[in-house]
Amino acid sequence: MQNKTLFISGGTRGIGKAIVYAFAARGCNVAFTYASSADTAKEIIADIESTYKVKCRAYRLDIMEPLTYKDVYKEFDEDFDKLDYFISNAIISGRAVVGGFAPFMRLKPKGLTNIYTATVSAFVVGAQEAVKRMEVNGGGSIISMSSTGNLVYTPNYSGHATNKAAVETMVKYAAAELGEKNIRVNAVSGGPIDTDALKAFPNYEEVKAEVVSRSPLSRMGDATDLTGACLFLCGQEASWLTGQTIVIDGGTSFQ
Ligand SMILES: NC(=O)c1ccc[n+]([C@@H]2O[C@H](COP(=O)([O-])OP(=O)(O)OC[C@H]3O[C@@H](n4cnc5c(N)ncnc54)[C@H](OP(=O)(O)O)[C@@H]3O)[C@@H](O)[C@H]2O)c1
Repeated sequence: MQNKTLFISGGTRGIGKAIVYAFAARGCNVAFTYASSADTAKEIIADIESTYKVKCRAYRLDIMEPLTYKDVYKEFDEDFDKLDYFISNAIISGRAVVGGFAPFMRLKPKGLTNIYTATVSAFVVGAQEAVKRMEVNGGGSIISMSSTGNLVYTPNYSGHATNKAAVETMVKYAAAELGEKNIRVNAVSGGPIDTDALKAFPNYEEVKAEVVSRSPLSRMGDATDLTGACLFLCGQEASWLTGQTIVIDGGTSFQ
């Protein structure tokens, strides 16, 4: 992946941070976004650049305002002269998901709409801007992170789950229309993974115990467990793979 460039949203923690490191370790330049963790972003940049000798930059982005992606990409253009891979990874939690992260009878339109904005609209605008840069460069690979909450009942998770289902469908539409530009679009769907997002679940310990007992591999997912699929989808080995969702769930969806 030398001389390639990845742009990923939400690179400061969890799965996004693991992806930043996995791509940099293969010689890929990396641009990532953060929402509030500016200091962490600076530490990651310093560590990545000194350890892997690639270029790394970070920009502030709020996925609740998807159109601000346009300004973030302008900053990206000042630092990088091309884009090869885009991964829509950032996710909201806490106050922004109130009314969206709840049992069915307590769901509220505002919370659901917020999750749609952060999941689907942010993917759309982030990917549109990526396409403008990839098409002048002969193509590229776009990935949306998804989750198996749309395959397995997960208490309180219907707001996220329905929007992950929506973004997987958006991925198929994007793939159908962008193939002529040699741009492939796929989703990587993970089972429950031990990150801050999951630790924010009120019943975190219960979810963890359930996942461990359900997985034939007897463990919960680790933040690094989705990196292999992302590397594969961006590589030549996946050159005829588009419009798909790759599920990585430790076997939990079938139990
Ligand atoms: N954890 C799981 O069980 C699991 C399973 C399958 C798929 N996924 C998916 O994988 C992706 C990453 O999840 P994760 O568990 O790694 O999340 P996480 O640990 O909570 O990290 C969230 C990332 O998003 C950023 N972010 C938060 N609010 C934002 C906002 N308003 N605008 C822009 N960026 C924002 C955070 O930046 P700051 O550090 O600056 O706040 C952070 O980098 C998500 O799409 C998630 O749905 C997660």
